[in-house]
Amino acid sequence: MLETLNKIKAQTVADLETVQSTPELEALLVKVLGKKGELTALLKSLGTLPQEERPQMGAAINDVRKALQEQIDRRAQELKAKERNEALKLEAIDVTEPRPLPKRGSAHPITIVMNEMIECFTGMGFEVVQGPEVELDHYNFELMNIPKNHPARDAQDTLYIDDNVVLRTHTSPMQARVMLSRKPPIRIVCPGRVYRADEVDATHSPVFHQMEGLVVDEHISMADLRGTLTAFAKHVYGPDVSIRFRPGFFPFTEPSAEVDLTCPACKGKGCSVCKGTGWIEILGSGMVNPKVLEMCGIDSKKYSGFAFGVGLDRIAMGRYDIHDLRLLFEGDARLLGQLR
Ligand code: PHE
Repeated sequence: MLETLNKIKAQTVADLETVQSTPELEALLVKVLGKKGELTALLKSLGTLPQEERPQMGAAINDVRKALQEQIDRRAQELKAKERNEALKLEAIDVTEPRPLPKRGSAHPITIVMNEMIECFTGMGFEVVQGPEVELDHYNFELMNIPKNHPARDAQDTLYIDDNVVLRTHTSPMQARVMLSRKPPIRIVCPGRVYRADEVDATHSPVFHQMEGLVVDEHISMADLRGTLTAFAKHVYGPDVSIRFRPGFFPFTEPSAEVDLTCPACKGKGCSVCKGTGWIEILGSGMVNPKVLEMCGIDSKKYSGFAFGVGLDRIAMGRYDIHDLRLLFEGDARLLGQLR
């Protein structure tokens, strides 16, 4: 029996050195000291010894049990420390490791074009103003010399909120709001969303963008309008473009002019974008109708002014070679991410 005891002791001491993890150690503990363990079995078999040998053998087994228990405890501490160190190493954060670059957003093409235009006009001394998209009929139409029953109302496909309130069909009502609230000299641009009851297709949307311009001062003439718009066209499209005026009609300007730009796609040679003409229409403009000046409290004998309204969506489409207006309103990051 003593031999078995020594064997168990030697084996366990050897095993203790090869054990590499806490679970392995626990298994060893159960195997030797557990309820059904080797030492326990040995202790139970004491009864098979002659009476006088039992106390001595019992004491020997208990000594071994105590010694092994101590060694197992010591080994447990060692393994715990080792495992803790490994865990710390695994969880360690390398603050010098390069991180993946964050996804960067980009400005919407309409915003880019709008900002460029704002930069151009503020450079010429214009101030940027903004106005309500839900607008009174009074400003959107009446003060723009478009009374009730005027045929121009039909042409605008107005979205009415009620009899007196509309979604603004153009940025022109801001002309009236500004003239009514300040004295000349006035030099403003007003970018923003406008609304018309249009079906959605590749070239129509019920919401789109305009930028209004208004200048009122003494001695303002059509030459000032032309000079301002030429500077604007060259700023946005480059020094080679030119503009041309065609007679037009707007109730709030007199005379009125539609303004064309050298086709940016073919530089004026004629292509499918400009339908062979070499020109594309970019805005409506004219001298502020004296009737409008008077309705807005400005002396039309002393002051004159010009106004223009540019469609921003058309310009953004031309700039980025986008052939479907809907793309500008869908907010698809795959498209927007490509444009800068
Ligand atoms: N408001 C006009 C439109 O929406 C554009 C315009 C503005 C024309 C100012 C002349 C002067 O079509």
